[in-house]
Amino acid sequence: MGRVAVTGAAGFIGSHLSERLLADGFEVTGIDSFTDYYSPERKREHLAKAIGHERFTLVEEDINTCDLAGLFAGCECVFHLAAQAGVRRSWGAEFNHYVESNILATQRILEALRELDSVKLVYSSSSSVYGETRNLPMKEEHPLRPISPYGATKLSAERLCDLYHVNFGVRYSALRYFTVYGPRQRPDMAFSRFIMGALNSDPLEIYGDGKQTRDFTFVSDAVEANMQAFRYEGEQRVFNIGGGSRVSILDVLGIMKRELGRNLDIRFVDRAKGDVTDTWADTTAARRELGFRTSVSLEEGLKAQIEWYRSRMRKTGGDTVGSG
Ligand code: UGA
Repeated sequence: MGRVAVTGAAGFIGSHLSERLLADGFEVTGIDSFTDYYSPERKREHLAKAIGHERFTLVEEDINTCDLAGLFAGCECVFHLAAQAGVRRSWGAEFNHYVESNILATQRILEALRELDSVKLVYSSSSSVYGETRNLPMKEEHPLRPISPYGATKLSAERLCDLYHVNFGVRYSALRYFTVYGPRQRPDMAFSRFIMGALNSDPLEIYGDGKQTRDFTFVSDAVEANMQAFRYEGEQRVFNIGGGSRVSILDVLGIMKRELGRNLDIRFVDRAKGDVTDTWADTTAARRELGFRTSVSLEEGLKAQIEWYRSRMRKTGGDTVGSG
């Protein structure tokens, strides 16, 4: 088996992908700078299994300053998941972090790959590049008009992948994920906030009327899409990766109430700037070209995420549940 690199290896999707690559026999170089967007201790927890593995090397460095060409030499693929995530926090002075982590870091990776023509790049993009639209389901060729600064940075990086391919032959696939969830989901995301809030008997804040919809995607399906994109030898292009579970936030809360077996204290607050009303992935291209299939239903996936929080709570006696 060959060698691969994963940026953002300690994050939500990156840590699951690293474990999958190790299980498949790869030698994995995980790169992560443990930013404090959420608890770095929690990120170390994510990596516990991988770190103990003999084929895993952790490089605790910043993509914007480290020797990428040295790290990528000899790799078959770079899975680029490191990013400043979060749609709603990308306004104001915070935008600097988004530009640095999402645009400048991706450009640096592409510069390193210019010289290493055998290495493929799998870039993690986002449904947020589409913006507010009634043209549903979203297809890759639809007009792109992000409404959050975050979405604008993810789109810039997608464009950079393509222009490095056109000019220098860098091979890439970009995956537009649709709201990924499951064990280890980032603590700022809806499901995490709702589960933590409910387990702590805190009120849950719903932004807007709760009728907004998302095409929620279970993390193992997003990981599988990365593996398929790695092996894909067709056109250099972008693919929608959606879970096929498009539901409203109110529907999610209904399922959560059943699964948790308790009433939820719901408060409606203002809609958040930058949030789109609906997402819905047309995954025809990913199914046809990559062989992408979803395998986890929303009920099963939510159960797994709830169980993950419960077992964490048991381990910590409950006191760190709220801290992410
Ligand atoms: C998520 C990720 O956070 C982004 O990094 C990613 O790029 C994007 O999915 C994507 O599709 O690729 P988002 O859809 O905002 O963004 O995911 P959640 O934080 O899980 O929010 C889902 C919905 O719940 C949003 O409509 C949001 O307004 C709502 N929400 C969230 C609440 O009503 N209350 C909360 O406390 C949190």
